[in-house]
Amino acid sequence: LQPSTLLFYLNGRKALLTQPPPDLTLLQYIRSIGLTGSKLGCGEGGCGACTVLVSSYDLATQAIRHIPVNACLSPLASVQGKHVITIEALGTSANPHPVQERIAQMHGSQCGFCTPGIVMSMYALLRTNPRPTEEEIEEAFDGNLCRCTGYRPILDAAKTFSVEKTGVCCKSGKGADNGGKGCCMDEGSRAQDPHMEEAKYQRGGGGCCKDTSASGGAPELIPSKVQKIDSSFQYQPYDPSRELIFPPALILL
Ligand code: FES
Ligand code: FES
Repeated sequence: LQPSTLLFYLNGRKALLTQPPPDLTLLQYIRSIGLTGSKLGCGEGGCGACTVLVSSYDLATQAIRHIPVNACLSPLASVQGKHVITIEALGTSANPHPVQERIAQMHGSQCGFCTPGIVMSMYALLRTNPRPTEEEIEEAFDGNLCRCTGYRPILDAAKTFSVEKTGVCCKSGKGADNGGKGCCMDEGSRAQDPHMEEAKYQRGGGGCCKDTSASGGAPELIPSKVQKIDSSFQYQPYDPSRELIFPPALILL
């Protein structure tokens, strides 16, 4: 590669740019090529409407890192060797990503202008942590402003990921085997995990989070924590294995 050539991946496809303007931002670039789902709100890192996911390979830890980024502040040159994912890569109205589906179904998309950034912040969190706690979800939205103050339905939709019935302890956030600590509804295991007492309260005695047979496969929501849910509402489970992979070619760079 010439020193003046920029190489990165955009929504799973390789991008090679020769001598891009040094002052071009990532947001200006993606919008200029038709990816207009990411919005220009404040233009100064304050609103999150321009949020995209930037994934990179960390040589020191040999791990892939997924970071939500304000594209309005990021020079295009900063994505050299990285994978940029924009809202266009997530889903369509006919086949939405689980984040899009749940925010739409639970009325979390209000003015719509901030929604792509909100979806991308949640998506970025799930790429790192598919079963986030409620506190982690609230932190993930730190950089997203909703001026119509409609945070409640957005948070309700997002929190369905932390209470999903998938055989994982709903509060431990420690992966499918729950770190060997057992179910949060298990009296014997509660003392080992500070989240477990709270988790029992949140599940309202509605059954063990490790029991995948109780609700016929449909994710179960906790009415005391997730408001305004249409009882007929069904959503697709979140499957991290269906996400765009990090391009192996970028690991070898
Ligand atoms: Fe507001 Fe980028 S446009 S943070
Ligand atoms: Fe845009 Fe609230 S969803 S201001």
